[in-house]
Amino acid sequence: MKVLVFDTAEALAQRCADEFSALLRTKTTPVLGLATGASPVPTYKALIERYTAGEISFRNVTTFNLDEYCELPRNDKNSYYTFMHENLFDHVDIKEENVHILNGNAPDFEAEAKSYEADIRAAGGIDLQLLGIGTNGHIGFNEPDVKFTKSTFVVELSQSTVNSNSIYFENSVMPKHAITMGIGSIMAAKKVLLIATGQKKAEAIRACVRGDITPACPASILQFHPDVTFFLDRDAAKLL
Ligand code: GLP
Repeated sequence: MKVLVFDTAEALAQRCADEFSALLRTKTTPVLGLATGASPVPTYKALIERYTAGEISFRNVTTFNLDEYCELPRNDKNSYYTFMHENLFDHVDIKEENVHILNGNAPDFEAEAKSYEADIRAAGGIDLQLLGIGTNGHIGFNEPDVKFTKSTFVVELSQSTVNSNSIYFENSVMPKHAITMGIGSIMAAKKVLLIATGQKKAEAIRACVRGDITPACPASILQFHPDVTFFLDRDAAKLL
């Protein structure tokens, strides 16, 4: 496990974008696992700048997003489909058919989960998985629980997640369920990068990096991953 601590959000984003650039330059068909939330936005911005400068291309890139809200129209301003298009996909040369985002309105969630996992396998697995972390230690939407989850599934969101994320749902009601890759799906990625910034993430980072490996802090399982790097600012790292 590597822990990198940065003085500025910009330095963190540039170093994290370096990991993506290196993969995009060396692998013919890179497969990315992508995350939503505020944490990865500066990294996505850095990647867009590098694409615009002609340094990298997403032409042969395939992506799989971690999660999506259930029963939120795909084009809602708060859907992760909209988020990813606004913050990355609309600004680079990725092919829409290579973008995979779970369907939160699927008629059969079990079938949706199965076909998502099959698509990841068919793409050759995820080379580089980007993660944020919830203040309760969740990754994707894997909430604190009594067991680790295996593969993609539908989850009831915890009160803590509803409290954190409902600020984005100004005039609408935040969904109470989401469909998310499981802990097993995340752990299968060849390389994992986790970004956390701000004091409100400090306790989750302490529990995840230094605490017991327990489903009560889902991110703590990353201690078992053979190639994981934490990208932190000083505030998020302050309890380490
Ligand atoms: C959401 C997402 C997570 C993300 C978390 C933290 O709940 N499902 O993947 O890591 O929010 O978001 P932020 O980076 O905005 O703190």
